[in-house]
Amino acid sequence: MRLRSLAFVWLLAATTVSSAFAQALPRVHMVATGGTISNRDGGRLTAEELARSMPGLERAATLTHEQFLNVASSQITLDQWLQLARRVNDLFATDQELAGIVVTSGTDTLEETAFFLHLTVKDVRPVVVVGSMRNPSTLGYEGAANLLEGVRVAASPAARGKGVLVVLNDEINSARDVTKTDALRLQTFRSPTHGLLGIVDRDKVAIFREILQRHTHTSEFDVRTITSLPRVDVVMVYQGATGDVIKALVDLGAKGIVIAGAGAGATSGTQGEGIDYATEKGVFVVTATRTGAGRIAPNRGQGPATLTPAQQRRRAFSISSEDHIPVKARILLMLALSRTSNRDEIQRIFSEY
Ligand code: DGL
Repeated sequence: MRLRSLAFVWLLAATTVSSAFAQALPRVHMVATGGTISNRDGGRLTAEELARSMPGLERAATLTHEQFLNVASSQITLDQWLQLARRVNDLFATDQELAGIVVTSGTDTLEETAFFLHLTVKDVRPVVVVGSMRNPSTLGYEGAANLLEGVRVAASPAARGKGVLVVLNDEINSARDVTKTDALRLQTFRSPTHGLLGIVDRDKVAIFREILQRHTHTSEFDVRTITSLPRVDVVMVYQGATGDVIKALVDLGAKGIVIAGAGAGATSGTQGEGIDYATEKGVFVVTATRTGAGRIAPNRGQGPATLTPAQQRRRAFSISSEDHIPVKARILLMLALSRTSNRDEIQRIFSEY
């Protein structure tokens, strides 16, 4: 009898200690959307299988998970972006104890989903987007390692307030700055102009700098009030390019066009005529650079009085992308157009985010 009650007391104590240990672990939620990290031959890994793939997870966090999508990143639609952003916001709003969220994604267009979340999630808690370059059927699959590092970053107090983060290959980049720079290499995710934010080492998550531009909790964009995103297209500049492509996009209903300009924003061939056509129709044209890095400075005011009416009209609908690459300028313009059709306001947005 005595032995039995001693055993009972021991069991009770052990349970209390282990649940206290479990409670002490930060709680992270994983939203799985698919991509190479899940793309196993013969059938994609589910969120459940991804969650079970990480040795050592039990020392990093308590992980819950959900299958939001299971597709290649380039198949994700604009409506799904809105739904994903709303879901992440809801998860935070309804669970104050949640430490952070990991979103798995294919890598091809990961930077777009990540930047959209960077602008639309209204919380200081970390959202970490994770993918892998090798699929689960490949020798050297790095998905489980990247995912565990993503969970550790999402659980880390050091990552709070830093906006949406992209974690692959032991490196932390800001969703604002990061881009995929190589079709195949593991070290593909780079922030060419500003560099990485931090690293994930065996002993700790180390953040070295932070983004001063507005994002997440300081963002003005609210996906609760956005029902759909306007059409915005990207047009590449190359020698001898024709402006009829730009005209066609305007006629197809584009509300904005991002020009992936040569160098510091030059156009080519007859593209100037296409831009005049767009601005005459009230379509905003954002100039970015196709070089992959660098800043396009905004125009100063209306310009000299000697400008022709067409040139003045062009100025009135022209915006500079600042240092956003064309695909991210497109996202920012779509969100800006959901709030305003005032040119100066849109330029302000480009300068503040
Ligand atoms: N590279 C993957 C992506 O970016 C595509 C592979 C797949 O999941 O089908 O999503």
